[in-house]
Amino acid sequence: MLTIIIFLAFCLSAVDSQFPRVCATDAAFRTRTCCPLWQDKSPCGSLSGRGRCKSWVTSKDKATPVSNDDRFNWPRYYYDNTCECYGNYSGFDCGDCKYGIHGGKCDRKNMIVRRELRELSFLEQKRLFSYLALTKTTKSRDFVVLSTGDRFHRETYRFVDASLYDVFAWMHYYSMKALMINNTFDATRNFAHQGPAFPGWHRLNLLFLERQIQLMTGDESFAIPYYDWRGDKNCSICTDTLLGSNDAQGILSTSSHFSFWKAICSGFDFPDEYCPLADAEYKMERLHRRPGTTPYAPNLPTFEDVENALKLKAFDAPPFNESARGSFRNSLEGFLAPDGVTLKRSLHNLVHIYLGGTMSQIPISGNDPIFLTHHSFIDKIFEAWIAKYNSTPDSYPANDLLGHGPNDCATPYFPCHKNKDLIRRSTEFGYRFSWPL
Ligand SMILES: *[C@@H]1O[C@H](CO)[C@@H](O)[C@H](O)[C@H]1NC(C)=O
Ligand SMILES: *[C@@H]1O[C@H](CO)[C@@H](O)[C@H](O)[C@H]1NC(C)=O
Ligand SMILES: *[C@@H]1O[C@H](CO)[C@@H](O)[C@H](O)[C@H]1NC(C)=O
Ligand SMILES: *[C@@H]1O[C@H](CO)[C@@H](O)[C@H](O)[C@H]1NC(C)=O
Repeated sequence: MLTIIIFLAFCLSAVDSQFPRVCATDAAFRTRTCCPLWQDKSPCGSLSGRGRCKSWVTSKDKATPVSNDDRFNWPRYYYDNTCECYGNYSGFDCGDCKYGIHGGKCDRKNMIVRRELRELSFLEQKRLFSYLALTKTTKSRDFVVLSTGDRFHRETYRFVDASLYDVFAWMHYYSMKALMINNTFDATRNFAHQGPAFPGWHRLNLLFLERQIQLMTGDESFAIPYYDWRGDKNCSICTDTLLGSNDAQGILSTSSHFSFWKAICSGFDFPDEYCPLADAEYKMERLHRRPGTTPYAPNLPTFEDVENALKLKAFDAPPFNESARGSFRNSLEGFLAPDGVTLKRSLHNLVHIYLGGTMSQIPISGNDPIFLTHHSFIDKIFEAWIAKYNSTPDSYPANDLLGHGPNDCATPYFPCHKNKDLIRRSTEFGYRFSWPL
């Protein structure tokens, strides 16, 4: 049963996070409602026709809880009511627009172009690195992150401030934590990996940060670049002008852009807690990376690997987890070789392990900005697959994995984005890639 949560002295003034800050308050949890007032003083901007405060309780797709995990059936553990936005409106309070749409009335289309990192001019690269520095040093206005002493005890939950970049990295960590089913932990499953939600979840993750950077800087043309690692002999963007070189211990060079960055949720491997060090910067690890030194990940994927993975027509296949064969998703994610048959580390997973260090600690890998460029390229391959087979949300399979159902909300995003709705052309989300694969 959900009880009233007491935030005691932990309660930081007004918090608003991924969890929206305005919904991480005592009152919001007591009323089980995350329907913030928009400028017109109505919940979800309902008076202005932007959206409505929708109840999940009466929803016919309400599922019976099989788990006391707070993320299950997102966002219903926390809220019975959240905003549902109309038309081009979006955001946790319907105060923002759908991806790819801008303007106060959300009536202006804006198409951005994601390019290979090295296609950017010197000035564009400088801009990218200064925007990223800003995201790491600017406290998120709208979002807070969840930290717990013990996931079983609601009274230990606290919502704390984080920088915009750390909110982004935390979302990955949070979605990836072991599932808590009937009071036992199952680390083989999570909400963003090892299942059909994988490509769409990461697509949303990048869109979230890209949009936040656009809002923070006012630069509507900002697009996350990608790293085309196909056939790269080593990490050729791991130089101090780009993502940074490292020393023998893996620590990023002091002449690189990210040498002062520290990883939120360091020491991630505690199943019973969420991000215990979320607000203890002095205890966080510095980023590290050791490209090309892991014996069991001796090379980056090849052109042929990507070409072969794209031959897999089925988006996913039973049992829809890391054992699935004949599954494009499992091959892209990298539990399945591009031949569609051999269960072996490939594409996405292989690159994480090849790069080593923070990137190979998958739950906290989002802390290293090379994650952005890697996932932007994974998304480009996903996009090529969607285009090749004219895929639609109908390609998303029904399945029994918690949180991976076609109509489940991708966890932990606001407002609800159904997993299946992420199988659409990228242009529907306002971006395209500079070159075909
Ligand atoms: C949504 O945005 C599109 C693209 O700018 C525009 O053509 C359309 O009129 C907008 N829809 C609404 C309901 O405002
Ligand atoms: C959790 O326990 C209940 C009651 O014992 C059982 O019916 C249910 O199948 C269990 N759920 C899972 C996912 O194991
Ligand atoms: C990649 O470069 C690192 C040095 O930056 C080196 O230690 C490693 O052996 C190289 N790996 C390969 C596979 O070339
Ligand atoms: C994948 O699902 C099948 C069928 O439910 C199960 O037997 C198998 O253990 C699962 N694989 C993993 C790695 O969880």
